[in-house]
Amino acid sequence: MSEVAKIELGGESYELPVITGSENEKAIDISKFRQETGYVTLDSGYKNTGATKSAITFLNGEEGILRYRGYPIEQLAENATFLEVAYLLLYGDLPNKDEYKLFESSINRHTLVHEDMKRFFEAYPSQAHPMGVLSSMICSLSTFYTESLDPYRSSDLKDLTIHRLIAKMPTLAAWAYKNSIRHPFIYPKNEYGYCENFLHMMYAMPTEDYKVDPIVSTALNKLLILHADHEQNCSTSTVRIVGSSQANLYATISAGISALWGPLHGGANQAVIEMLQQIHHDGGDVDKWVKKAKDKNDPFRLMGFGHRVYKNFDPRANIIKKSCDDVLNQMGINDPMLDIAKKLEKVALEDEYFKARNLYPNVDFYSGIIYKAIGIPTDMFTVMFAMGRLPGWISQWKEMLENNDPIGRPRQIYTGHKNRDYVKLEDR
Ligand code: SDX
Repeated sequence: MSEVAKIELGGESYELPVITGSENEKAIDISKFRQETGYVTLDSGYKNTGATKSAITFLNGEEGILRYRGYPIEQLAENATFLEVAYLLLYGDLPNKDEYKLFESSINRHTLVHEDMKRFFEAYPSQAHPMGVLSSMICSLSTFYTESLDPYRSSDLKDLTIHRLIAKMPTLAAWAYKNSIRHPFIYPKNEYGYCENFLHMMYAMPTEDYKVDPIVSTALNKLLILHADHEQNCSTSTVRIVGSSQANLYATISAGISALWGPLHGGANQAVIEMLQQIHHDGGDVDKWVKKAKDKNDPFRLMGFGHRVYKNFDPRANIIKKSCDDVLNQMGINDPMLDIAKKLEKVALEDEYFKARNLYPNVDFYSGIIYKAIGIPTDMFTVMFAMGRLPGWISQWKEMLENNDPIGRPRQIYTGHKNRDYVKLEDR
């Protein structure tokens, strides 16, 4: 007998079906709730509300579990390439050798962007934040590929659009950086791997090539994998709701990039480094800043701490923290920000305020220190997050289309004025 939820409303009793996921997660299905009861449910920030069923990513916030299509993040971060993980998220299984070769060569074939797009970059001021440039550039791709805008037109065209986005994201990201320092754009080289190509476009010059340090490309590969998907977070929910209107994929991903930019979400990695630098310049008094973070009258929050879902630890933060030590040791870098971060983490984890609220370091707490060590400028940190999250956004969008999910349109409870008549301006 399948489980039901019973609810008494207005003297009536109702039974609501309970659905169980493959990891035994339970949900009360309220898809017919208003139709049957005349009531809607209210859950600001969707803290208790599932928006969809999904077979892509499983996470358990209490136990710190994160798996992409069933594979533990720890194993993928250690053994896979980012393109293997992108394939896994998009198509449901790890590719075999032939599938991987085909996928990689298709991505390589689309790394260039239309020459006319270079003019768009030149119109931006050098201080333009690269997230603003990236979001508009990704949307601008839709103006060059008008034949493939309709996501339903053909699966080949849908795949072509997906491959174009994954291929062009590093090029557009690197060119946003080059444009900000007014350096010449560097073109992708097909013989390079995904991460090497990005680093080459970031740091090479027309006069000299850039020798990619394997420590750096390995660290970048791991970081991109760790950011690749995270079920229904803010930017992914944005992608799903924009895509549910059947907007083209370029515009949909552009919306996801904009949502990620916020400091409470993907923008936190930039905010963490700026916070660590602020504490460092203020003399490194960690206790003072932890006190400020706890003070309700102080807007300061410990950036990189806390998470809507993880209430014990963010498994990604543990992997990145270890990688931090490895990368800085291998590169012989002694970054005072890492020492401050570790001190901050220790003080906060022993503090009742943070323990009572289950606040732990999240994915953004240590990632900025690695990005800084491998030479990524601070305002490019969230661009790196977007590059990693791209296959996750696209796989969630693809799943939404394949499941024929309806257009997203939440309800509300109105709390404004009741009916009133217009009063002419001269009588007001
Ligand atoms: C990402 O969702 C995802 O999956 C996101 C992400 C992904 O991969 O897509 O994991 C990536 O966005 C990670 C989060 C990056 N953001 C930050 O590091 C910014 C700092 N953290 C917070 O602003 C906050 O913790 C959130 C936004 C992450 C979570 O906010 P919630 O779940 O809405 O929790 P809340 O704001 O209601 O906080 C609960 C309590 C409050 O105190 P009380 O009102 O109960 O007394 O905890 C406090 C908050 O004031 N609190 C903090 C805090 N975070 C929460 N206090 C100090 N410093 C903090 N960082």
